[in-house]
Amino acid sequence: MSIQQDKIKELVERRASARMGGGQKRIDAQHQKGKLTARERLSLLLDEGSFEEFDMFVQHRCTNFGMERQHFDGDGVVTGQGTIDGRLVYVFAQDFTVSGGSLSKTMAEKICKVMDMALRNGAPCIGLNDSGGARIQEGIDALAGYGDIFERNILASGVVPQISGIFGPCAGGAVYSPALTDFTLMVRNSSYMFLTGPGVVKQVTGETVTQEQLGGASVHASRSGVAHFAADSEEEGIATIRELLSFIPQNNLSTAPELPTSDPVSRTEDILNEIIPDSPNKSYDMYSVIGAIVDDSRFFEVHRDFAKNIIVGFAHMNGQSVGIVANQPKVLAGVLDINASRKAARFVRFCDAFNIPLVTLVDVPGFLCGTQQEYGAIITNGAKLLYAYGEATVPKVTVTLRKSYGGAHIVMSCKQLRGDINYAWPSANIAVMGADGAVDVLYGKEIKAETDPERQAAMAAARKQEYNDLFCNPYQAAQKGYIEDVIEPRNTRFRVIRALESLRGKRQELPARKHDNLPL
Ligand code: HXC
Repeated sequence: MSIQQDKIKELVERRASARMGGGQKRIDAQHQKGKLTARERLSLLLDEGSFEEFDMFVQHRCTNFGMERQHFDGDGVVTGQGTIDGRLVYVFAQDFTVSGGSLSKTMAEKICKVMDMALRNGAPCIGLNDSGGARIQEGIDALAGYGDIFERNILASGVVPQISGIFGPCAGGAVYSPALTDFTLMVRNSSYMFLTGPGVVKQVTGETVTQEQLGGASVHASRSGVAHFAADSEEEGIATIRELLSFIPQNNLSTAPELPTSDPVSRTEDILNEIIPDSPNKSYDMYSVIGAIVDDSRFFEVHRDFAKNIIVGFAHMNGQSVGIVANQPKVLAGVLDINASRKAARFVRFCDAFNIPLVTLVDVPGFLCGTQQEYGAIITNGAKLLYAYGEATVPKVTVTLRKSYGGAHIVMSCKQLRGDINYAWPSANIAVMGADGAVDVLYGKEIKAETDPERQAAMAAARKQEYNDLFCNPYQAAQKGYIEDVIEPRNTRFRVIRALESLRGKRQELPARKHDNLPL
């Protein structure tokens, strides 16, 4: 064998050894827990044969606690570039088989390198996290490593999409970095997010809690809202990340890929002419409306299990990727509360940052009132959504289906918040509040003063009728130019698409400033 062949053999062997991460025993342990390895995850995520690995031979430099005797090529993270549906992405996948995927300074350098490349070359960055957080043996070096990563998360925010998959027990910095990214996905029963694990919680607070109770997918996808997606398996989670990417652009200077469709632009849906119940207190399912108007009825929902009173997600309309925001009358009558406001505000801001037009479907009775909401800062949280819509410069098309009352009317992409094209169905009521509340405020004392119950009921009914005649229709708003047109529900798909097409060249600027001061 020539010297050259010897060297090539060594390279092949070194690569093979690096690909083993923490060794066969730990890989087996990972599989026994029903988890994939970092490399297996990447091979599912990326187009076949597209992965190019960087820094495969990098090793940590720690000499504390006997770490100088524990070296694994590549350390606890696999990094590189690849493609998804032919589009360039940068990736890192933490390797739990090496010190529980905990972050060393050199691991941080590897991650920062691909984040820098993503930012420089305008491509999404996807992190697959499976890590116990800062590597304890490295002390401040590991913390500094997280500081370096967080700074890059922040600088890349709104410039390139950042997506986090959580594929194991993630603690400390391994959850704060995902929290700085645009979307976080968890896997039910095998992934966890917490500041610190149950063992440390027991030490510090005395609380006994399981990983699932502390930070399982059920907690974060439905209660805290930290996770945008919860999948039943790692394979499903990775497929979800691939699908998500199909709706979003490479960076803030480009637009999302078009998805040609054979679904006719002029498709009418008679069912929409029937969908609003006669009684204002009866609900209907907003998903039916979304399904009826988007291309091929395909809706990719974000935050499906969190704040279900508002629906957000992506779809295509005549091939163009759009962000849909819609009140859900079936849940809490579609009221806006703290969580719904936070959820929708974050989504609106993502769409605005990445040039994705917004389609808003309104049926909202108002903001939820009461001490619980006030103590939780519904004012500040509601203001987030107001702010998000008001600052957004992407095309904004709004359709009011039924109720649009009070502050919630203003918040939900009204004309005064620079809504571009605002339509209403004939069933729309655009007013300060519903008839019952309004009559009580305006005539409550007068009506209560009437002692004869029959005359009292007649007085209330007459006042409500008067109020309904004036406000419980879209025409007062239409007469004043607050909406562009009252449209027949069955034509909604066509009208929204035509509006979106007319807005493709929209240009709108914000005043120069260092940055805004979004109410947080
Ligand atoms: C070094 C770590 C580690 C860490 C885990 N390991 N976390 N090594 N530093 N942070 C090692 C374990 O010693 C073990 O090594 C292997 O990884 C697997 O861990 P296990 O505990 O056996 O696995 P499991 O039972 O699944 O529990 C996983 C875990 C738990 C829940 C993540 O390990 C844990 O609670 N770790 C500590 C988490 C934590 O508190 N991190 C906070 C860091 S502070 P062996 O050799 O035995 O296999 C931080 C601050 C950043 O990140 C800044 C934020 C703003």
